[in-house]
Amino acid sequence: ATAGKPITCLAAVAWEPKKPLSIETVEVAPPRAGEVRIKLTDTGVCHTDAYTLDGHDSEGKFPVILGHEGGGVVESVGEGVTCVAPGDHVIPLYIPQCKECKFCKSPKTNLCGKIRTTQGNGVMPDGTSRFTCKGQTVYHFMGCSTFSQYTVVAAISVCKVNEAAPLDKVCLLGCGISTGYGAALNTAQVEAGSTCAVWGLGAVGLAVVMGCKAAGANRIIGVDINPDKFEVAKQFGATEFINPKDYDKPIQTVIVEKTDGGCDYTFECIGNIHTMRAALESCHKGWGVSTIIGVAAAGQEISTRPFQLVTGRTWKGTAFGGWKSVDSVPKLVEQYMKKEIKVDEFVSHNMELAKINEAFDLMHSGKSIRSVVKL
Ligand code: APR
Ligand code: ZN
Repeated sequence: ATAGKPITCLAAVAWEPKKPLSIETVEVAPPRAGEVRIKLTDTGVCHTDAYTLDGHDSEGKFPVILGHEGGGVVESVGEGVTCVAPGDHVIPLYIPQCKECKFCKSPKTNLCGKIRTTQGNGVMPDGTSRFTCKGQTVYHFMGCSTFSQYTVVAAISVCKVNEAAPLDKVCLLGCGISTGYGAALNTAQVEAGSTCAVWGLGAVGLAVVMGCKAAGANRIIGVDINPDKFEVAKQFGATEFINPKDYDKPIQTVIVEKTDGGCDYTFECIGNIHTMRAALESCHKGWGVSTIIGVAAAGQEISTRPFQLVTGRTWKGTAFGGWKSVDSVPKLVEQYMKKEIKVDEFVSHNMELAKINEAFDLMHSGKSIRSVVKL
């Protein structure tokens, strides 16, 4: 048995910003009190990984093991851990749920604050790392570090899921799909019969489309500058498409005209401050709600005329789709098992760990929805 001992395995290490990941042999220390060591089998690759790798994250520490969309099996648990046991199938959660802090006690938010500082610093809650490579400390990322065959996470940052669920699919419920789907259902609370518009038809935007459809939206307008995205968006429930490049006038003018005054709900799934403004201004006077999901580059600021808000539009934002993570992700897995939500359809590419850098290339070129890496 491996419990209580360090484990040597492969991981994709980011030694420094803007350099490809390198596959290394790393040592993963046993879980301490309140921690869980997981044998990861699969991981998605998300923009936030690339964002940190490109050096945009001011908190980002190197060397680091990135990745936060993973799935695996519990190998061992530290002292006092009862929520999961060895052999359980689990998904690591970059927003934990401690159920004790003021955020967790509030029904209004999912932003657990319990380990926020140490997680941001790339270490476990006790302030140390479990990863070493070539004698050097390697930092954790988003409390998950899924680009490794083994990882250690806080027990509040993991949930047990149905073991019949394929981990190479449901790993994606650890970030992008849940984020978009929850933005529509939890944050915006889209209503039946409404008119919606979604900027950016990547994995996040497609999941928003899926959420709008589940809520019974009547019109779901997909907005993207890449027309290749329209066919796939249709399969997720989009009813019409707008390519901003096809118009000379501002896209908000086009949408307001097409929708008799604007949309009931709009979503920004790109991370661009200009499309954030366009999405808000495409909302209907009096009640339109615009939700920001995309993460803008550090230091950027949004703007609009205050009149837009005075006349009844609402600007919102969401992280991880508003889901209380430990409670919700196992339920989303069940919904997938009952075929109530799509997950397989988000996987456009699969590759081995050795080719993980190709997943970043595919993401940057806009050719993938999601790549899933076999660890
Ligand atoms: N107008 C319309 N569509 C755009 C624009 C634009 N100005 N710029 C980019 N797009 C489209 C791209 O063509 C692409 O289809 O937005 C889509 C973004 O999709 P992905 O790159 O696959 O991103 P995704 O994984 O869905 O994440 C979306 O959410 O995770 C956050 O901030 C992160 O940027 C990321 C966003
Ligand atoms: Zn909490």
